[in-house]
Amino acid sequence: MTVSRLTLAADDGLIAIPSSGTIAVYRPDAALDLSALPRDRTIVVHSFRPIHDLWKGRGWTVAAQDAPEATMSIVALPRSKAHARAMIAEACAKTDGVVVVDGQKTEGIDSLYKDVRKRVSVVATLTKAHGRLFAFTASDGFGDWADAPTKVEEFTTKPGVFSAEKLDQGSKALVAALPDKLPKQVADLGAGWGYLSQRILAIQGIETLDLVEAEERALDCARLNVTDPRARFHWEDATTHAPSEPYQMVVMNPPFHTGRSGDPDIGRGFIMAAARMLTPQGRLLMVANRHLPYEAVLSERFKVVDELGGTPGFKVLMASRPSRVKG
Ligand SMILES: C[S@@+](CC[C@H](N)C(=O)[O-])C[C@H]1O[C@@H](n2cnc3c(N)ncnc32)[C@H](O)[C@@H]1O
Repeated sequence: MTVSRLTLAADDGLIAIPSSGTIAVYRPDAALDLSALPRDRTIVVHSFRPIHDLWKGRGWTVAAQDAPEATMSIVALPRSKAHARAMIAEACAKTDGVVVVDGQKTEGIDSLYKDVRKRVSVVATLTKAHGRLFAFTASDGFGDWADAPTKVEEFTTKPGVFSAEKLDQGSKALVAALPDKLPKQVADLGAGWGYLSQRILAIQGIETLDLVEAEERALDCARLNVTDPRARFHWEDATTHAPSEPYQMVVMNPPFHTGRSGDPDIGRGFIMAAARMLTPQGRLLMVANRHLPYEAVLSERFKVVDELGGTPGFKVLMASRPSRVKG
């Protein structure tokens, strides 16, 4: 863990950590150094389950959403600008004191800094390590940035969730390849706001569909979009999800990004998890960008692997009969 701008700013007296009251930290990634903060008065707010659990495991008090009233709030910049603005609006509404914003240039911290400076005076700023930290006194002038639902066709989405503004081409390719009949127990791993799940439930045969999603903001939308009583919602890391009964089929459009860079290991983790969750005759139906090399892990974890089709950009793969591999 490298020393954060937060620690440098606190050590240099650029920002004063309040001596009483709660400090809220919005969405810190796993590598953020929070050592400048008093652990007994700090609440970490993170709705992405693996990171939420990681902070909890390190001994911090953690909330999923709904940040606490605080004497200082620290916003770690997310990738989506609308989500960042929503977090700043929430921090302003809930803080009696200073709001600190910290992020990388590649995530758009400088443009957010400019936007904030148009509304309030910034009391401190520090640029370091390809990023910036700035601080201002919480103001009620950010109400128009508050979190608001958005729409994709008839579906409700939220800023920052996957495909918040338009349907994903991969998900569409997978929907086009869905069979006419599905088995009784099915799971959608990384279900997002529920587009795929809603389409799966329109196919005959299903008795239960488990939507497993790590981002609670997305799952909240899925609860609104998928009202079928056969749907069950799990705010969980799909790679550790353990169903009470194995599934006959897993359908998924797995995530393939960590931050801005593509990372096939995430999809490989999903494939291995799906294999563990299936019955011996179970099937995995998935979509992936054509350039992502999933075939090796599929052949290792399943006895039969076929490409069902797709589009020039996406391949739809069916893998059947998981091999009983340990791990
Ligand atoms: C490519 S999107 C697919 C969303 C949706 N199924 C669709 O087709 O529109 C992948 C989803 O996986 C979620 N995700 C990422 N890591 C996860 C994890 N470890 N466990 C469960 N879900 C995860 C993301 O939040 C995102 O919603």
